[in-house]
Amino acid sequence: MKVLLVHDSKFGNGEKVAKSIVKAFDGSEIKSVHNKNIKPKDAVEYSADVLIIGNAVRMFRMSGSAKRWLKKFNRILTKQDKSIPFGISFITHMRPIEKIESHLIKFHKYLMGIESIINVYPEYILAQVEDIEGPLRSGVLTEIEAQSSVLVKWINSIDI
Ligand SMILES: Cc1cc2nc3c(=O)[nH]c(=O)nc-3n(C[C@H](O)[C@H](O)[C@H](O)COP(=O)(O)O)c2cc1C
Repeated sequence: MKVLLVHDSKFGNGEKVAKSIVKAFDGSEIKSVHNKNIKPKDAVEYSADVLIIGNAVRMFRMSGSAKRWLKKFNRILTKQDKSIPFGISFITHMRPIEKIESHLIKFHKYLMGIESIINVYPEYILAQVEDIEGPLRSGVLTEIEAQSSVLVKWINSIDI
């Protein structure tokens, strides 16, 4: 299985989350990279089975760079008549979930609406930071590792 994780980490918290998620994909070929370091066209060429897209809540909304990157990625996949079997998102945030849920739902709906991603993981993977630049709250990475094992089981349960 080929896994491409594209994050949008500014202070390194999302990058730590990325490292914890990919641990569950032990034995897979993994590329984990900031979205500014991989062009959507190169990501399409990588031909991943799983795309994990990281985003953050900033300024009371989802940061726009992940969405812009996904939009271009989808445009290229569609143009080349290609698709990617699995899509998963993770989001870092500081404010409590109930305060940001509308942004999460909107981003998740956006991901579900991308026609070139066939199966979107129905859960959000969330990681809360303590302060504006982090660090991650205690226990978050352990929780992420447990959730990631569940998501690998979800992938393995779907015939493609
Ligand atoms: C300018 C700025 C605005 C932010 N606004 C919010 C916000 O509205 N809601 C929230 O939950 N977190 C907010 N945060 C915290 C970010 O979610 C946090 O910096 C980010 O998730 C950390 O991940 P990173 O280190 O991977 O960038 C803000 C952070 C910055 C720097």
